[in-house]
Parts: sequence; C-alpha cells; structure tokens
Amino acid sequence: MSDLDLLQKKIKELGIGRVLVLVDEQVDKLYPHHLYTLETNIPCEKIIIPAGEGSKSIAQASRIWQQMLQWQMDKDCAVLNFGGGMVCDLGGFVAATYKRGIACINYPTTLLAMIDAAHGGKTAIDLDGVKNCVGVVRQPAFVMPANTQFLRTLPERELRSGFGELIKYALISSKPLFEELYTMDTLTAEAIQPEWIQHCIDFKNRIVEIDPDDRRERRVLNFGHTVGHALESLFAQKGQPLAHGEAVAIGILYESCMANQAGMLPKEDLSRIESLVSKHFPLPVLSAEDKARINGFMKQDKKNNQGKINIVMLKRIGEACGPSEDNGFGKSPISF
Ligand SMILES: NC(=O)c1ccc[n+]([C@@H]2O[C@H](COP(=O)([O-])OP(=O)(O)OC[C@H]3O[C@@H](n4cnc5c(N)ncnc54)[C@H](O)[C@@H]3O)[C@@H](O)[C@H]2O)c1
Ligand SMILES: [Zn+2]
Repeated sequence: MSDLDLLQKKIKELGIGRVLVLVDEQVDKLYPHHLYTLETNIPCEKIIIPAGEGSKSIAQASRIWQQMLQWQMDKDCAVLNFGGGMVCDLGGFVAATYKRGIACINYPTTLLAMIDAAHGGKTAIDLDGVKNCVGVVRQPAFVMPANTQFLRTLPERELRSGFGELIKYALISSKPLFEELYTMDTLTAEAIQPEWIQHCIDFKNRIVEIDPDDRRERRVLNFGHTVGHALESLFAQKGQPLAHGEAVAIGILYESCMANQAGMLPKEDLSRIESLVSKHFPLPVLSAEDKARINGFMKQDKKNNQGKINIVMLKRIGEACGPSEDNGFGKSPISF
C-alpha cells in the first residue's frame, strides 16, 4: 500500500471529514504535489507557514485558529502536519486547543521528526525566546510511517541534527545501535537505516506509554537535553543558532562527562562517545562567561525540581538511569 493510500485509509477509519494540511514554505516548495491524491479525494484546506523555529509562535497559532474558524472547521476536522518537528509542534498545539481539541496526524519529513518529534504527543510554541514555553501533551491520532525518501532532500545540517538525536536513542537504549552508528563512515541520507528509525520510535512509544506525562521514566528521553537546551539558548542569543540535534549531541558529550565524573559511566565508554560526537559535530569553544551563562540557563530548565537541576545519567553505552534510582537525578552539576 502506498503512503498516500495508507493515509487516506486512516483518515476514513478515524471518521475525519475534512483535513487542514499544515506545511512550511520549504517543504511545500519541494513536495508541492505530494498530497495531491489526498486533496482530490478528501476535502482539504492548506496553510503554508514560513520555515524555521520562528513560526512556533502565538502569532502563527492565532493565524491558523482564525483561518480554521473562517473555514468553519469543526470537530470532525483534523490537522495534518506535513514537515519537520516545527510543523508537528505548532500544528499539534493548534489541533489540541482548537475547539478544545481536534485530531492531529503527523507526516514527518525530517530525520528528527521521524525518530522523535512526530511521536509522543508533546506539542508547543515558543514564548519570548523561551522554547516550548506554552504547550500541551496530546497524542496524535496517527503518525505516518517514516519514509526515508524525504531525507534525500534534507540539507546536510538538518540530517546531522537528526543524527544527534539518533545518537541519544542509541546511548539510552541500545548498544548494538551505537555500534552501527559508530562504524558508519559518512553521514548521508542513504546511510540512515529504516530499522534505526523504527528502533527509536518503538523505544519512545514504550516509554511514553508507561509515563505519558513526563514525570518519571519518560525523562530518560531528555538525556543530553539539559546542557543541550542551555547551549541552544546561549548560541541563539549570540546570533549563531545551533540546530536542536546539534545542541543535543554536544549536550550528550557534556552530560556523559558528568556521569563519568560521578563515577558512573566507564572511561572507555566516554572515549567512544567523545569520538563519535566529535566526528560529526564541531565542538564549540566555551569561555568562562559562556559556561556561567549555560549554568544560568540550566537553572531555568523545565525538568528542574525544587531548584535542583535534573540531569539524566548514563550508566553505560545503551543504558541510562531511571529517576527512581539514586543516580544523580536531582544533583546539581558542579563542573563541565
Ligand atoms: N515534540 C517533540 O517531542 C519534539 C522532539 C524533538 C524536537 N522537537 C521540536 O522540533 C523542532 C525541530 O524539528 P526539525 O529539526 O525537524 O526542524 P524543522 O521542522 O524546522 O525543519 C528543519 C528544516 O528542514 C526543512 N525540511 C523539512 N523537511 C525537509 C525535507 N524532506 N527536505 C528538505 N528540507 C526539509 C524545513 O523546511 C526546515 O527549514 C524544534 O522546534 C524542536 O523543539 C519536538
Ligand atoms: Zn530533542
């Protein structure tokens, strides 16, 4: 069954009568006719938004809500997010809030969205430069299976960004996957194996099922993100923005160093992580002032509890500590 046949079948099964396609300019330009058969068989409207993180805003959300209202879209309508994590986050948020919630379908076109952002139901917009500040957790009605053909048009930097998140999944869940990433020569779209993507999806779905509200087990998915988000904020302020997965990859390295310093992650595992990350990601030189600012950002992290910074600790390659263990969750990082 083709992708589009599957999509149409699901839409019918879900009792969806009308679809709002949300797509960014870049994806629309590259794949203008991709949804053609859907658009001819099911009543569809389309909204095209500017590409980039700047569109995860209340202004764009409001524009979409207003347009949906003008088109008299009702509870039997669904938002179909066709694109990367930005479109999934924004469209998911709009769908979760419009008329107290209509269905949302994610059709990911970036590696990062295929393995992560399209799944798990976290939706959000940014507010005053604070990423994902306003949002809700609401599971999508359906996520299209990953189609790696889309990766062939992905800019190299975006592919690397998704690869950063892929390294995270390997480190927290699968040593064999780490070994495959480790021995891969060059990062190209063709090198990305569909089984790797499926592994990440299955792992995330399992974790989300156990802990949908991100209170305990789901937090392992944040490995690399405490430092990563702080780096993202720092470099955005410096006017040299990092892609999400780039920041996560560097965050992974710093958080692995912390786990090693805390006597958890063995030295040889740390060396291999360092070698994989530095092979694909340029490591920033951080001044003492940068480090102080990073610590400042980490103190504002959403995962913090009672003023303590929560860092996910890696035990060894393929296994992270759960928050139930006495493992460094809740410890403040002293140095990095
Ligand atoms: N909800 C979650 O669980 C979750 C998880 C991780 C990240 N995110 C969010 O996802 C966003 C990042 O997602 P992203 O990395 O996919 O970025 P993105 O959606 O901004 O896409 C990156 C760029 O790639 C372009 N693009 C998309 N598909 C393409 C294709 N097939 N070929 C060529 N170009 C293409 C886009 O137009 C954009 O310019 C961030 O906002 C992040 O906060 C959410
Ligand atoms: Zn992430």
